[in-house]
Amino acid sequence: MKKRVILITGASSGIGFDTAQTLARQGHKVYAAARRVELMEPLRNDGVVPLRMDVTDEQSMQDGVDFVLNAEGRVDVLVNNAGYGFFGAIETVPMEEARRQLEVNVFGLARLCQLILPIMRKQGEGRIINTSSIAGKMVLLYGGWYHVSKYSVEAFSDALRMEMKPFGIDVSMIEPGGIKTDWGIIAARHLKESSIGTPYEKSAEFESEFFNSAYSGNYLSSPHVVTRAISRAVNSRRPKARYRIGRFSHLAVFFHWLLPARWWDALVRRFCRIKL
Ligand SMILES: NC(=O)c1ccc[n+]([C@@H]2O[C@H](COP(=O)([O-])OP(=O)(O)OC[C@H]3O[C@@H](n4cnc5c(N)ncnc54)[C@H](OP(=O)(O)O)[C@@H]3O)[C@@H](O)[C@H]2O)c1
Repeated sequence: MKKRVILITGASSGIGFDTAQTLARQGHKVYAAARRVELMEPLRNDGVVPLRMDVTDEQSMQDGVDFVLNAEGRVDVLVNNAGYGFFGAIETVPMEEARRQLEVNVFGLARLCQLILPIMRKQGEGRIINTSSIAGKMVLLYGGWYHVSKYSVEAFSDALRMEMKPFGIDVSMIEPGGIKTDWGIIAARHLKESSIGTPYEKSAEFESEFFNSAYSGNYLSSPHVVTRAISRAVNSRRPKARYRIGRFSHLAVFFHWLLPARWWDALVRRFCRIKL
């Protein structure tokens, strides 16, 4: 297996942490980025180098990329994994939070690509792996701004893949379904907080309780399922454009595709017990 220099964002927890650890154990040189740098200290045991990075902060992204380049002289793989879900009704999520959601999930990811592509073009090779979601293929109630962000990651990555083909740079997307990490607990908290005292409060509370129990139970797939897909995108000779993984992920996207929009809407609304 070719040893690669890898920069991965969102490595302080969940999917990113597990992926950083696994790729380092495979023998790759891994630089792990996030804001909570202290949570990444244990990764040092496997040779991972933690970097403090906020993907909404231009200087910190620039510093992170410069650090890897100065240390290694190259960057072979960028795994854009940082992201979170700000759930809530479109009417009640403050625009400031909607913008912030896109700043982290879309523009941070895009800016890191811009910073790294000149390095990869000069090398004549490289890989960009963007963590999208089945949320970029189907829409749930109160997920509006999160879905906007993941549909954007899908379009952005498809465009980038075509642009990068002549330069020997591969672009892959990872499309997980529900994965047992802090993601669901954070999304549930935002959903609950943004709907208090609004007409959406009752159904939002039901959905947020559903998220809390799903993400603290044992039904969802483990982050390691996603790690395996990212690992294939890093190591295989011809990485795929998309890796869809996680329990029920294919089924959910298939039904969203199959059902007329009204049927899908009715199903989701019924599930959330909406009687408005
Ligand atoms: N879990 C799921 O069900 C699921 C399904 C599909 C897709 N995904 C996607 O998978 C990715 C990883 O999520 P996860 O499930 O592993 O959730 P997680 O455990 O909450 O991890 C999210 C990571 O993103 C980082 N992050 C958030 N805001 C950031 C910012 N401004 N700058 C830098 N890093 C930031 C966090 O680090 P700091 O807070 O330390 O900065 C953390 O390391 C996300 O893109 C998510 O949308 C998750």
